[in-house]
Amino acid sequence: MTDKGPAPLRLGSIAPNFKAETTRGPIDFHEFIGDNWVVLFSHPEDYTPVCTTELGAFAKLEPEFKKRGVKLIGLSANTIESHGGWIKDINEISSCDLQFPIIGDKQRQVALAYDMLDQQDATNVDEKGIAFTIRSVFIIDPKKTIRTILSYPASTGRNSAEVLRIVDSLQTGDKHKVTTPINWVPGDDVIVHPSINNDKAKELFPQFKAIKPYLRVTPLPKEQTSVPA
Ligand code: BEZ
Repeated sequence: MTDKGPAPLRLGSIAPNFKAETTRGPIDFHEFIGDNWVVLFSHPEDYTPVCTTELGAFAKLEPEFKKRGVKLIGLSANTIESHGGWIKDINEISSCDLQFPIIGDKQRQVALAYDMLDQQDATNVDEKGIAFTIRSVFIIDPKKTIRTILSYPASTGRNSAEVLRIVDSLQTGDKHKVTTPINWVPGDDVIVHPSINNDKAKELFPQFKAIKPYLRVTPLPKEQTSVPA
């Protein structure tokens, strides 16, 4: 805690726990995480155009997240009754069947704890002038550690495939001592982690190549990544 509120969340912070109402019933967030990975993402407001398209896309990709042991959970600063009606529209518009819970955060209790409120864009406010939530994404691992934080402005829809790609990068990096380069997708070459010396690298990745002493790449076939078949 600081004088101005909760300490800022950073990569490596433990995801703050909270209790909340959701469209799938009340949750204790740490119990919800359990032994899973979780993607928690916020929306400015129900029945808004960009958010509607985003939720449809996440609903369609949910099976891929599930295969990777990832639970999705959305948040919007409205009531769960409002979310319920909106989900019907989302399913109709995107021809999907949205299953994951959406938190009803009308009082912005979770939004405050996760610093999801917009302080920069003074126009991103509701009819009472209260700041909307922004488009935040938190990727949280089974140890409840925040591994990724993304912040998008209200005007820009996120890329659900990119969120899945980040999960693949994190889970593959946890499985092997590798990092992933720009625009990596599973099956592309990966980078040998800088903490691995060349002798160890030869043992772990017999085909690795040193482009520079600090840039060593190795093939990593998709089957050897964390991505399920
Ligand atoms: C939208 O989802 O379309 C949206 C929400 C709040 C402000 C601007 C756009």
